[in-house]
Amino acid sequence: MGVSSSDPLLLRAARGEVLDRPPVWMMRQAGRYMKAYRDLREKYPSFRDRSEIPEVAIEVSLQPWKAFQPDGVILFSDIVTPLPGLGIEMDVAEGKGPIIAAPIRTQQQVDNLRPLEPEESLPFIKTILQALRQEVGNKSTVLGFVGAPWTLAAYVVEGKGSKTYSIIKNMAFTDPTMLHQFLGKLAEAIATYARYQIDCGAQVIQLFDSWAGQLSPQDYETFALPYQQQVFQQIRQTHPDTPLILLVSGSAGLLERMAKSGADIITVDWTVDMADARARLGTNMKVQGNLDPGVLFGSQEFIRDRIYDTVRKAGHGGHILNLGHGVLPSTPEENVEFFFETAKQLSLAAVA
Ligand code: CP3
Repeated sequence: MGVSSSDPLLLRAARGEVLDRPPVWMMRQAGRYMKAYRDLREKYPSFRDRSEIPEVAIEVSLQPWKAFQPDGVILFSDIVTPLPGLGIEMDVAEGKGPIIAAPIRTQQQVDNLRPLEPEESLPFIKTILQALRQEVGNKSTVLGFVGAPWTLAAYVVEGKGSKTYSIIKNMAFTDPTMLHQFLGKLAEAIATYARYQIDCGAQVIQLFDSWAGQLSPQDYETFALPYQQQVFQQIRQTHPDTPLILLVSGSAGLLERMAKSGADIITVDWTVDMADARARLGTNMKVQGNLDPGVLFGSQEFIRDRIYDTVRKAGHGGHILNLGHGVLPSTPEENVEFFFETAKQLSLAAVA
């Protein structure tokens, strides 16, 4: 697949082209800060319905597209969505996040996991991604995403979100062999799922290892990095042209190690100055980020200054403008609109 100037901006930036402005999208751009989403949630109170009934998931994914025309449109789904296909029952609870029916704590449970067959367990993903591609055409880029093994294992072992990760760390440091087997099975399933998303129309894949920043750098290299590498390698074997993005929350102490994952683009959060991130990652690594989502509570002038500052520090080429993490549910919708408008009017020559 060659690079063509009719390709959407985000895809071109992801391939390293120098552009007139960075492409822009927002993590969690579909969701609770939007009235249209809250209205639809009344009609479909179950998160699984909203993300697994194709017509509803398509509508939610397209709500921010219709409102703001971002350069990226992400599949509305969750990182735990593929788990039932492995035999792990789950739900996504209002205000809490994923809940696992029977947390995995024993060798027997690890042995009983099934290999993922996405055509069978995730048929709705194909309908959703095909519809998104059809709708946005060449005007935007459709992003797929998957959770990384460590972060998925954290939910499945703990049974829900955690502040301390005590149960999975206990397993990591007392029964590492079992945990490694589990992480290996998850990596296999996640790579299969990511390939399926690409076959169904996803043009970029973002790997969320949200909770890998809870590990010390040494343990990141043992329990997170090798499985990120496995997932990226397996995707690349069959889909070498699809850009791959890595996100770790609270990754300031891990940036250089993240660069060894095989990702094309590293998401940087706001705890790192973008100029420092560039210096630490080198000119060959592309970056995404990195405004504090809280900036969107500020005045328009404040938001504009922070956008300019970030874009200036990221420099020419290889930058996807984004927040450093998901947009917060209480964010004023008009500030999101202003963020996109300002970003889309940027010219790199003007802010340099
Ligand atoms: O970015 C997008 O617009 C795509 C949608 C998306 C969701 N989850 C929808 C969602 C994405 C990319 C995810 C990934 C995800 N899910 C991650 C990785 C990203 C990150 O935040 O680091 C994680 C850790 C999860 C697990 C999860 N699911 C959490 C922590 C929560 C939030 C709990 C809460 O209520 O605050 C969920 C639920 C969830 N997934 C919501 C959304 C929009 C909120 C619930 C709702 O809107 O009803």
